[in-house]
Amino acid sequence: MNIVVLGPGAIGSLWAHSLHCAGHSVSLWSRSDGHTHTIQVDDGRAIVLANHDTPALEQADLLLVTVKAPQVTQAIQPLLKHLHSECIVLLMHNGMGTAEPTSKILTGNPLVLATTTHGVYRQSDSLILHTGLGTTQLGGYNAKGKQCQFLEDVLHHALPNVSWNPNIQEALWHKLAINCAINPMTAIHQITNGELNSNNYSKELDRVINEVSQVMNAEGITTSLATLKETVYKVINATAKNHSSMQQDIFYHRTSEIDFITGYLLERAKAHNIAAPSNAALYEQIKRIEQSWKSS
Ligand code: PAF
Repeated sequence: MNIVVLGPGAIGSLWAHSLHCAGHSVSLWSRSDGHTHTIQVDDGRAIVLANHDTPALEQADLLLVTVKAPQVTQAIQPLLKHLHSECIVLLMHNGMGTAEPTSKILTGNPLVLATTTHGVYRQSDSLILHTGLGTTQLGGYNAKGKQCQFLEDVLHHALPNVSWNPNIQEALWHKLAINCAINPMTAIHQITNGELNSNNYSKELDRVINEVSQVMNAEGITTSLATLKETVYKVINATAKNHSSMQQDIFYHRTSEIDFITGYLLERAKAHNIAAPSNAALYEQIKRIEQSWKSS
C-alpha cells in the first residue's frame, strides 16, 4: 500500500518502520520540514523515509494519523487538498472525541479508528525504543470505514497483533478508562505509573474508576467498578516503571490530552446527567497547571 504517516512521534515512527519493513511504500508528514527522516527501532537497521512528499500524499491509500488528539484536525486540514477521496484515514491516539470533527472535514474518505497498547519511547529524534509488545484494535467509524476490515491483515502482518473490532467505540472506552485513571493522577503528582499502587492514591483511584464505569454503562457499555479496577491495576503493574504520556507532557510544559481524556468523559457524564466530581477535580487541576505556564 502507499502509506503516509502523519505525526511520526514514538508510536507513528514504530508503525512507519514496521510498515516499511513489511514492504509498503511509506513516507512521513512531520512537523519538521526536512525532506527525509531517519527511524531506527531499538538496535535494528536505521531506515530513511521521505518527509513532506506531496506526490506520495496524492497517491496515498492510507493516511495513518498518529499526532496527539488535540492536534488531529489541525494537522489533517492542510493535507486535505492532496488526499484522494478513497484514501483511508486512520486515527490512532489516546483519548476520544476527534472522530466526529475529523469526519466533518473529510470529503467522504473512509474513517477508521484504532487503539494500541504498544509501549514505545522516543529516545531521540530518530531512535525509538519498543519497550512493550502490545496489541492494536481497529474499527470503522463511518460507513466506508466499516468496509476496511482488510486493514487488519495489512497491519497485523507489519506489527502483530492487530484485530478488527466492529465495536471499536467499546475498545476506545476501555482505553479511555485506563487513561482517566492513570494519566491525570500521575501528571499531577509527577509519579511513575507504578507509584499509583500506593495506599495514598487507592481511594481517589476507586472514585475516579467508579465514575468512569457509570458513564460507560450509560453509554451502553457493560462494565463494572470491579472489572475496570482489575484492568487499571493490571496496566499500572505492567507499566510500573513508565511515566504516562500526561506525566511527561506536564513535566515538559506541553499541552496535555486532558480535554480528550477526562474532558471527554465529563462531556459524556453531563449528557447523561451523571455527577463525576472526582474526575472534574482532576480535570481542573491539570487545567490550572497548564494555565500557570501561560500566566508566568
Ligand atoms: O498514556 C499513556 O501513557 C498510556 O496510554 C498508559 C496506558 C497510561 C501507560 O502509560
